[in-house]
Amino acid sequence: MNLQLEIPGRKSSLVMINPIMTASGTFSFGLDKPHGFNIQELGAIVTKTVTLRPRKGSPQTRTAETTGGMLNAIGLQNPGVTALIRTIAPKWTRWRVPVVVSILGATVDEYGEVASRLDGVENVSAIEVNISSPNAKRGGMEFGQEADAAAAVTKSVIQNTTLPVIVKLTPNVTDIVEIARAVVDAGADALCVINTLQAMAIDVTTRAPVIGSTFSGLSGPAIKPVALRMVYQVASALDVPIIGCGGVKSGRDAAEFLLAGACAVQVGTATFANPSAPLDVLNGLRDYLTNHDVVDVGEIVGAAQAAG
Ligand SMILES: Cc1cc2nc3c(=O)[nH]c(=O)nc-3n(C[C@H](O)[C@H](O)[C@H](O)COP(=O)(O)O)c2cc1C
Repeated sequence: MNLQLEIPGRKSSLVMINPIMTASGTFSFGLDKPHGFNIQELGAIVTKTVTLRPRKGSPQTRTAETTGGMLNAIGLQNPGVTALIRTIAPKWTRWRVPVVVSILGATVDEYGEVASRLDGVENVSAIEVNISSPNAKRGGMEFGQEADAAAAVTKSVIQNTTLPVIVKLTPNVTDIVEIARAVVDAGADALCVINTLQAMAIDVTTRAPVIGSTFSGLSGPAIKPVALRMVYQVASALDVPIIGCGGVKSGRDAAEFLLAGACAVQVGTATFANPSAPLDVLNGLRDYLTNHDVVDVGEIVGAAQAAG
């Protein structure tokens, strides 16, 4: 069975042995993996989003459980791109699994600056551009909610890197296809669909918002149908590699995203309840493909489009 895929960039490609990736912010920098977890079996690792300077993140409380998912407002706590390059990236040297570094800037130029610092860094195979975080005071989702701003960020990154560029979209928009088109026209090599849905919870005893920064991002199985709908919409409108993300916790979920038109999927929140979730998703996908006599995973990509 062939599970391999390639996301072509302008100078190099992101080549993955299978379509299962970790989602940004749910696997840190890949160094604290659970005992017995063979990271090399994954298609790719996506790091926590890094910014130009270190960030301390949001006040507590940062996470809460909801029915079918979780809320988070971590506030992009990260050591900054310089520390990533000096102390974290060298630890990836013996990995075969490609590492995708997620980046965010407070301004359009800052996105370009972070991208340029990562260009040529050994062990970095692609960049994921976070224009979708609901937890950044400046940058993030504000760029992903407006087509011109999304295009400007994409151009800024592309001008500053030779690596393949994946742009991660927010679901908190009226028309995701409009934003996706702007980003692709600006030169993005691939899209990641979607980041979290902006949400909140209120403690009825204290009568205050549960999450310290009031608003937060909803993730997990609760958002899967929304993510799937958005992947389907973007795939039917545009010819671009799409990485599906949102609520994937089984091989069957992964298959749904591929059928909708994604060529790969990311596993995020599921990892908190089950640290082996990305590998379980991979094994489940393999079983699904075997049971349906699929010899090449590419055969099912977008199959629901033809049926729908
Ligand atoms: C605790 C937590 C931290 C996250 N941090 C980031 C981040 O730094 N950058 C980013 O692009 N997405 C971040 N996300 C969003 C996930 O990458 C993913 O897009 C989202 O959670 C939906 O997928 P899931 O339902 O599989 O978790 C975070 C999600 C969670 C739950």
